[in-house]
Amino acid sequence: MSVGAVKRFLVLQGPNLDRLGRREPETYGSMTLPELQAHLDEVAAELGCELAHYQSAREGRLVERVHQAIDDGFDGAIVNAAAYTHTSIALRDALLAGPLPFIEVHLSNVYARESFRHHSYLADVAIGVITGLGPIGYALALRALVGRASVG
Ligand code: DQA
Repeated sequence: MSVGAVKRFLVLQGPNLDRLGRREPETYGSMTLPELQAHLDEVAAELGCELAHYQSAREGRLVERVHQAIDDGFDGAIVNAAAYTHTSIALRDALLAGPLPFIEVHLSNVYARESFRHHSYLADVAIGVITGLGPIGYALALRALVGRASVG
């Protein structure tokens, strides 16, 4: 039986997500970004895939990291673009320039918050959107990406 290449996924995190654990814990919970990344690495090991984590407050850096993932042949991405979700045509265009199938994730339920969070520049070009489930949303997104990649 031939074994396919190990699947690789980018976990892209936008501005202020490096402040998790300290930032509005009533909205975003108590888990820090390193803890979230370590948890996702455990899930990835269980699923037999690899993750590359990247966080930046800078829109251009996020765009460039998407380009790099596309050029490196990544199999998909989990994207929490944070506030850029609601503003960034550049990030949308970068993801559209794929192939880089991705799932949009938000820790909080953006639809239960201010109306400016109800619009996403990414949602309609994502495979799907997970919002409001906290850190588990990322793990569910990873399971969905791996499941999707394994069925071709
Ligand atoms: C967020 C929701 C965004 O509206 C907000 O700007 C964030 C975090 C979330 O994970 O809930 O920074 O993406």
